[in-house]
Formats: sequence, C-alpha cells, structure tokens
Amino acid sequence: MDEKSVNRLISNGGGEVGVAIPENMNKNVIHKTNSIYWDTKGNDFLKAITLPYYGWFISEEKHQLFGDISGKKLLEIGCGNGRSLQYQGERGASELWAVDISEKQIEKAAQHLESHGLSAKFICSPMEEECGIPEDYFDYVYSIYAIGWTTDLEGTFRRIASYLKKDGVFIFSWSHPIHRCVTEDDGRFVFRKSYFDEAWYPVAVDEGELLLADRMLSTYVNALAKAGFVIEKLIEQSDDEIMQLRDDKSDLARRAKMLPVTFVIKARKL
Ligand SMILES: C[S@@+](CC[C@H](N)C(=O)[O-])C[C@H]1O[C@@H](n2cnc3c(N)ncnc32)[C@H](O)[C@@H]1O
Repeated sequence: MDEKSVNRLISNGGGEVGVAIPENMNKNVIHKTNSIYWDTKGNDFLKAITLPYYGWFISEEKHQLFGDISGKKLLEIGCGNGRSLQYQGERGASELWAVDISEKQIEKAAQHLESHGLSAKFICSPMEEECGIPEDYFDYVYSIYAIGWTTDLEGTFRRIASYLKKDGVFIFSWSHPIHRCVTEDDGRFVFRKSYFDEAWYPVAVDEGELLLADRMLSTYVNALAKAGFVIEKLIEQSDDEIMQLRDDKSDLARRAKMLPVTFVIKARKL
C-alpha cells in the first residue's frame, strides 16, 4: 500500500459513497474482507497512527493521556505492526498484550518487538469475540485507529471494560466522523454524505478492498456510557505545533486547520 492510498483511506475521507451494500455483508464477510486486506497489504509506514501519534496531528507527548505507565499492564486492540507496543514497552510497561485480526500483522509486530529487545503476548482474533484475554486484569487498554473496524461497538466496549481493573483506563483514537463526511471540491469543503449514515461501505485501496462504517461521535459516547465508562477527555483539535513543525502544506493539513480529522477519547471504567 503506498502512502497516497493510505491517506485516501484514512485521512481524506475516501470511499465510494452511495455504493449499494451487498445483502450478504454481515460480520463474517466484513472480517474476511478486512483481514485479507491487512494480511496482504499491511501498514508498515503509518507513522502517524502509531504512538506517540494518535493520528496525523495529535500526540501523546502533548496531551499526556497515559501519564506514567511504568509497572502497568497494557492491552492494545488492533496492534498492527507493533510500533505502539514498542513505545509502551520502552516507557516501562510491565506486561504488554495485543489482539489483532491479522496473523501477518501479529507476525510483524512480534518480530519488531523482538528486534527491540521487547515482547508481548499476542492473540489473533477479532476484537469482538471471546479470545482468552483475562478479565479485571489490565491497568490500560488502548487502541490507535483500530476500534472503528469493529462490527459490534457496544459489545467490544463491554469486553474492553471486562478486561480492565476497576478505575482502569481506556484510550482510543479513530477518524473523526465529520472528516469522513467532508470532501474538497474546488477549494471548498462540502458534505459528500450524511453525518448520520452509519452503513458499511466498500473502500477500494491499492488494488485491495476494505469494508468500513462511519459512526457518529454520539454513537461512541453512548456505547462507552452503556459499557460502564466515564469519559475524562475528548480531543478533536489538531496540534498547531505539529503542523508548524512539519511545515505541512498537504491537503490533509489544510483540512486539519478547518475541521477535526482525528478524535481521541480517554475513558475510565467505573
Ligand atoms: C490501522 S491498523 C492499526 C495500526 C496500529 N495502531 C499500529 O500501531 O500499527 C488497524 C489494525 O486493526 C486490525 N483489525 C481490523 N479489524 C479488526 C478486528 N475486527 N479485530 C481486531 N483487529 C482488527 C487490522 O488487522 C490492523 O492491524
């Protein structure tokens, strides 16, 4: 997958809106399509969606959502190629666990950690399913641009709550739903689809295909409340410092000055 394709997929609100959704698009079809994609294409150079970055223009270094994690047990949902696990391992986490639907991604993550003298317990499974992760065990569960792939948001949040100790912290980032709805047309930002449309749709990327749904922010907030979380922080504004530092003149940077492109939520299990 080249960088342009990734930007189209995750950053520029790409996707074929209005494409009829096949009747047989159920959870299994979504999992199969998406894991084939992640197994064969991967995301090796996605530096912007691995910690310390929550997305292109929001960083842990500025917001300090985790604080001191030394001696803490952490679980990553949708670990991808393991760069975020490396970040947490180097900051002194006592245990690292990770779940991902793609065997190939897990293989890469394990190799990456090993080459940095680190290790994690990896589980290959959809995040939606029971997969042997211990309950009431973790101080932190986190996920960088992976939660939105779930076919069952409420069920996934319930599972995540069960993995956490009481007062444990859940932090995740994903594409901001406003960003997913807006496209640029002749220098103006216009809505290309309804903010309220949460249907799954196919996205053609780099000769592959992914299935994606854009959920409203309220859907995430209400699912968290239902699963027994209280929200401590919601971040949706891009960091000026990062944009200035990178002197970024890209379409995405112009967009990020006008509207939120990423959101990050820090929630605590009650
Ligand atoms: C954009 S990548 C995440 C990148 C990751 N933050 C990193 O540091 O590399 C999304 C990941 O979510 C995984 N994924 C997609 N659907 C999933 C599901 N239903 N359950 C678990 N993992 C899933 C993919 O295999 C992929 O590795």
